[in-house]
Amino acid sequence: MEAWLVTRYADAKQALADQRLSKNPAHHDEPAHAKGKTGIPGERKAELMTHLLNIDPPDHTRLRRLVSKAFTPRRVAEFAPRVQELTDDLLDRFARNGSADLIHEFAFPLPIYAICDLLGVPREDQDDFRDWAGMMIRHGGGPRGGVARSVKKMRGYLADLIHRKRESLSAEPVPGEDLISGLIRASDHGEHLTENEAAAMAFILLFAGFETTVNLIGNGTYALLTHPEQRTRLQQALATGDRGLLETGVEELLRYDGPVELATWRFATQPLTIGGQDIAPGDPVLVVLAAADRDPQRFADPDTLDLARRDNQHLGYGHGIHYCLGAPLARLEGQTALATLLTRLPDLRLAVDPSELRWRGGLIMRGLRTLPVEFTPIS
Ligand code: HEM
Repeated sequence: MEAWLVTRYADAKQALADQRLSKNPAHHDEPAHAKGKTGIPGERKAELMTHLLNIDPPDHTRLRRLVSKAFTPRRVAEFAPRVQELTDDLLDRFARNGSADLIHEFAFPLPIYAICDLLGVPREDQDDFRDWAGMMIRHGGGPRGGVARSVKKMRGYLADLIHRKRESLSAEPVPGEDLISGLIRASDHGEHLTENEAAAMAFILLFAGFETTVNLIGNGTYALLTHPEQRTRLQQALATGDRGLLETGVEELLRYDGPVELATWRFATQPLTIGGQDIAPGDPVLVVLAAADRDPQRFADPDTLDLARRDNQHLGYGHGIHYCLGAPLARLEGQTALATLLTRLPDLRLAVDPSELRWRGGLIMRGLRTLPVEFTPIS
């Protein structure tokens, strides 16, 4: 498959906001078998196509407005103590060992349990999600049978859960605190989300919020462990209770080595020009966030990790109408995970030479397969 790659910051920002670039794969000229590759394995087979990353206004505007009513920054802020508790619980499980694979034991389970809690998936079912998500992350990006089966199971489970919650809400309309109940109740001029739309929404929240956050924690920890001066500065700031450097630091980690290397597929609906290049209708366009965020025309010393960087409007969460809906949750999880690791395991270090680390394949995501670390055991 051929596509245009947009790599400069100014062009990337323009392309991400350009409504002549559609997210709907139906605008793509390629044969049917190549359509719809937004990075979600198995999605073409399911009715998952109607999620936010695959649709344009006016449908996108309506669905985004509805979900924004349920997935508010306030709801995320109220969730902070639970994220801290989940983080501490996961760390407790390996803190006595003196070593761990931070991807599988820490970065991977945290976002799964967090989003399950937020959505209202009962605790006893959350390990099923962990298994299904594990299948996706191990084989993500390819059309392999196991991944498609996991997507199908997750989708079926969510549809059933939404149905059950809707029934119990109509029997006893006590406002549920969870996001799925919020989605069911969300209405816009009397228009409700259909159960199908709510299930696709729950799925995209889970999917978009899972591997991305795994990689923020994984890539971020790796960058800190390989930049000892920056890491020491952050540890000192945290020791004095100053969280300012943590906040700018997580943004810098997103710029420096963000989880989403390329934004999802876009397709030209009319002739347009980006950075002097003419693009024909039907052409696929990929915005390379990783390149834009290291553009020397936009960022001073772009290849330097500077946790205190101020002028840092990176594109790690995208831009325009598809700007990441989960950014407040991702920030909360990233900041909590990194601060907890550095505070509770102060001498955390890589257990292997960086040259031995392996990155996952795939077009859209950038993340490590494993991150073996060592530290002084704590009880
Ligand atoms: C560090 C973690 C994260 C990163 C780097 C990230 C990055 C992104 C990017 C780049 C986009 C735009 C893609 C495009 O325009 O092609 C996006 C969209 C989106 N993200 Fe995130 N994301 C993260 C975490 C989350 C979380 C935790 C959630 C939800 C729980 C989430 C939900 C979404 C949704 C629903 C969209 C689609 C929004 C729309 O199309 O209107 N993301 N994200």
